[in-house]
Amino acid sequence: MNAWKGIIAEYSDFLPFGADSDTVTLLEGNTPLIYSSNLSKKTGASVYLKFDGANPTGSFKDRGMTVAITKAKKDGANAVICASTGNTSASAAAYAARCGLRCYVLIPSGKIAGGKMAQVIAHGANVVAIDGNFDQALELVKKISSQYLIALVNSLNPFRIEGQKTAAFEVCDVLGRSPDYLFIPVGNAGNITSYWKGFREYRSAGRIKSVPKMCGFQAAGAAPIYYDRKIDGPETIATAIRIGNPARWQEAKAAMTDSGGMVGIVTDEEIMSAYFEIATYDGIFAEPASAASVAGLLKRSDGDRSLVEKLVVCVLTGHGLKDPDSAVKFGTGFKTAGAEMSSVLSAIGL
Ligand code: F0G
Repeated sequence: MNAWKGIIAEYSDFLPFGADSDTVTLLEGNTPLIYSSNLSKKTGASVYLKFDGANPTGSFKDRGMTVAITKAKKDGANAVICASTGNTSASAAAYAARCGLRCYVLIPSGKIAGGKMAQVIAHGANVVAIDGNFDQALELVKKISSQYLIALVNSLNPFRIEGQKTAAFEVCDVLGRSPDYLFIPVGNAGNITSYWKGFREYRSAGRIKSVPKMCGFQAAGAAPIYYDRKIDGPETIATAIRIGNPARWQEAKAAMTDSGGMVGIVTDEEIMSAYFEIATYDGIFAEPASAASVAGLLKRSDGDRSLVEKLVVCVLTGHGLKDPDSAVKFGTGFKTAGAEMSSVLSAIGL
């Protein structure tokens, strides 16, 4: 077995540079594509879950960050900056720490899941929680990076897109073909842009014959692309995608339209129901924003036969451990008992 060396080494033919001594990697990528018998049975499709929560920092951002931070390092940068709903900052902080770059992070105060806060702090990033939302934070970091010598590592950075498109390559490599449909959560719209680029490049290279229909799902309270207007006060339980003015809005729209896919919305209830569904029946713990893809699949397949016998991939973007509070708050809870047999037996109902 050849040791996995990270996405830059694996997919250098499709990336702006190959692996060398500058490469900043945590051996990201090569994440599991897991068949879901429960979702397949429910929808009539063959459903696979691309679990990108299995990346080193627990989200798909690592694919983009290895390329963006390596590029910053090659360019001689001393510092990087990002706005984030949590995962981008956790990943940026980890990759920056690995190569000695300073990392500045702007986050919306009180709207970052606990695991992500723990990560940015542990990796020693310079974190500022602003009294505002992600969209405002993004505007601020755009200004700061244009006025100071600090590299912006949000998905506006094209090197992020280059790295993240490798998830599409992995899906096709494992399936031996393109899926018919890809369901994916949409926030700042970088990831759907990346997948779409990846599928098209693989088709051009003759690795796959067709490309999937791209089905992007936004949270109902944070759905600017669906409603075709900026949302000033986006709200959703899925804080990772609590975004009202996505940076790659037009590209995301083009991906969904050009592929014959769709943009849809899912409510917080639908998101949490899908979150528990994959945790309970598939043994996969993904964060609430990730579950928007599965919620979208369940919503679309309800009463719509077009997915029957099709090959479907749902992208699970981040690990459930990122946001442990959601499981505790909305789950079935636990019982308490005294530390003796009779008390425990009666608590568990035996
Ligand atoms: N899922 C998770 C877990 C995310 O963290 C994000 C975005 C998305 C989906 C949406 O991806 O923005 O490329 O459309 N998180 C960003 C962040 C905004 O700051 O961590 P997108």
